[in-house]
Amino acid sequence: MCINFLMIGIVQCLFSSFQTAAGTCILPSMFRNSVWHDSTKGDLNFTNSTMSGWQMTAYSQSVSQWECFIDSAYESNGYLIFKSLQKVEFGDVTFTGYMCMQLTKVTDYSYYYYLLYTQQRNAAEERILYSENATSNYSTICNTVSKEPLEQFHMLIKSGYEWEARQYCPTPILGNFDYTYTGSDGNVYCQNSSDQWRVCSDRQTMTFNYTTCNKTIAYSKGGQVWCVGTISSSYTFVMVYNNDSSVDGSTTYRFTCFSISSDGLNASMVPKNCTENQIPTTFAKRHDGQNMGAKLAMTPYLTCPFTSATSKVENVNVGAVVGGILGGVILIVVIVGLYMFCKRSSTVIQISGNEARGSVADDKVDSARNPQIERFRVKEDKMFNLSPRDDLMPTSNHIIQKNHVPNNERNSAKQSVESLSVNDYDEQFSHRVIM
Ligand SMILES: *[C@@H]1O[C@H](CO)[C@@H](O)[C@H](O)[C@H]1NC(C)=O
Ligand SMILES: *[C@@H]1O[C@H](CO)[C@@H](O)[C@H](O)[C@H]1NC(C)=O
Ligand SMILES: *[C@@H]1O[C@H](CO)[C@@H](O)[C@H](O)[C@H]1NC(C)=O
Ligand SMILES: *[C@@H]1O[C@H](CO)[C@@H](O)[C@H](O)[C@H]1NC(C)=O
Ligand SMILES: *[C@@H]1O[C@H](CO)[C@@H](O)[C@H](O)[C@H]1NC(C)=O
Ligand SMILES: *[C@@H]1O[C@H](CO)[C@@H](O)[C@H](O)[C@H]1NC(C)=O
Ligand SMILES: *[C@@H]1O[C@H](CO)[C@@H](O)[C@H](O)[C@H]1NC(C)=O
Ligand SMILES: *[C@@H]1O[C@H](CO)[C@@H](O)[C@H](O)[C@H]1NC(C)=O
Ligand SMILES: *[C@@H]1O[C@H](CO)[C@@H](O)[C@H](O)[C@H]1NC(C)=O
Ligand SMILES: *[C@@H]1O[C@H](CO)[C@@H](O)[C@H](O)[C@H]1NC(C)=O
Repeated sequence: MCINFLMIGIVQCLFSSFQTAAGTCILPSMFRNSVWHDSTKGDLNFTNSTMSGWQMTAYSQSVSQWECFIDSAYESNGYLIFKSLQKVEFGDVTFTGYMCMQLTKVTDYSYYYYLLYTQQRNAAEERILYSENATSNYSTICNTVSKEPLEQFHMLIKSGYEWEARQYCPTPILGNFDYTYTGSDGNVYCQNSSDQWRVCSDRQTMTFNYTTCNKTIAYSKGGQVWCVGTISSSYTFVMVYNNDSSVDGSTTYRFTCFSISSDGLNASMVPKNCTENQIPTTFAKRHDGQNMGAKLAMTPYLTCPFTSATSKVENVNVGAVVGGILGGVILIVVIVGLYMFCKRSSTVIQISGNEARGSVADDKVDSARNPQIERFRVKEDKMFNLSPRDDLMPTSNHIIQKNHVPNNERNSAKQSVESLSVNDYDEQFSHRVIM
């Protein structure tokens, strides 16, 4: 109770000191002077306070230049607010765009984000506030009630660090599969029973062999993509990254999102990001109701889920607890110090307590609905010094069980051990042969 009260005071204090500097902000350090691949918008170019490349159209006018506008709620809520540098004219009125990204760190080089605003009919259904009046109140711009649905997450990966953004693919897709492909026109392809969609040889990578069927999966001509982020709710939504040397934006793309059923038998895919209510067994829909992407029906040759992760996790927890206590003590000292300091300085601009509490509640709802988000949060915590993949680490046992593994699978299993040990990962490889 006391702590909560103190926290609200501190938030108000910090907020007030940032508020005086309202206008432009300096971007968080990892974004400054770098290029990031946005799953939806392509490459974004950040300077220390501007961003270009997040292109949209409002009243038929193009906007793609933005400046950092408010960052005061970045540390607390992940909110980063941009203001459009290009204005939009409509009649006599000049509008400025305000975009609120809610960012969550996945690795040092990758984030996922949601836009927090209602869709705007006059702005190509984008979730951007267009206002004629200046506003410096972030709760006007960041509307948590109308944020994007969980499955529609967007990702940012820092250019030059794509390899570092790799994550393990989620359990339902940890296997090697035969598949059929149904295009959005309804035609069915890849009906041969020998197609190959492999994840077992490297559980961070999906590899496709187009020899038996030349329909590209995950819009990758090269036939290889990396898992970079997963959000689970009723289905598993996994984002993959295509590191091909070039993509054309019409038949090949950098990012693809799959909605996968929990049994790993059905998936729907779309370029860029998943869409609202994207179901594994039906096509993703555009705003106008048109089918997008493709449907896949998979049959596993074998599956390779991680098994027990106990010993490693226990170690991590001990570290986390010690770190947490230490960190907590330091944090309280800092907070009390700051509070004393702020209390003495006179100008305090209030932000509503409801707002602060509202966002915390919002987070709780998210993690209740979605354990994966909790996982992302743990990764985000620098204090615990967790490797981004620790929570998915298998145990330190090196038992490789092979039951009637066909020759080609043996090879891939060997490859897997090699590639994982190169990464210094302990490996427990357990095969369940389906066919
Ligand atoms: C990013 O923007 C800066 C400043 O406008 C420019 O000098 C630089 O060439 C741009 N980089 C890329 C990769 O577009
Ligand atoms: C940001 O960039 C501008 C122009 O390059 C420069 O004047 C300013 O000092 C930079 N600020 C920081 C904090 O790096
Ligand atoms: C903007 O400000 C003008 C003048 O103060 C006011 O008439 C108008 O209603 C405001 N618009 C919005 C969208 O708040
Ligand atoms: C910011 O806006 C919210 C809701 O629009 C309002 O409740 C709050 O009082 C505003 N805060 C300030 C400092 O104007
Ligand atoms: C792809 O499949 C064909 C036919 O099954 C096989 O000959 C070829 O070696 C495979 N390619 C790779 C890279 O595994
Ligand atoms: C099955 O694959 C063979 C070549 O491996 C190809 O000739 C044949 O057309 C394929 N059949 C279907 C239904 O895709
Ligand atoms: C893919 O295969 C089909 C028939 O198997 C063929 O008609 C088509 O030209 C091929 N497309 C490409 C791009 O190779
Ligand atoms: C990913 O693509 C970049 C740019 O084409 C290339 O430099 C890099 O070597 C690729 N990485 C891997 C692991 O293929
Ligand atoms: C991606 O997200 C946007 C909103 O940013 C949404 O309109 C769109 O339907 C989503 N899916 C695709 C494939 O574009
Ligand atoms: C789901 O996948 C299974 C197994 O591949 C397949 O039999 C079934 O038809 C698929 N369902 C739909 C609706 O595509």
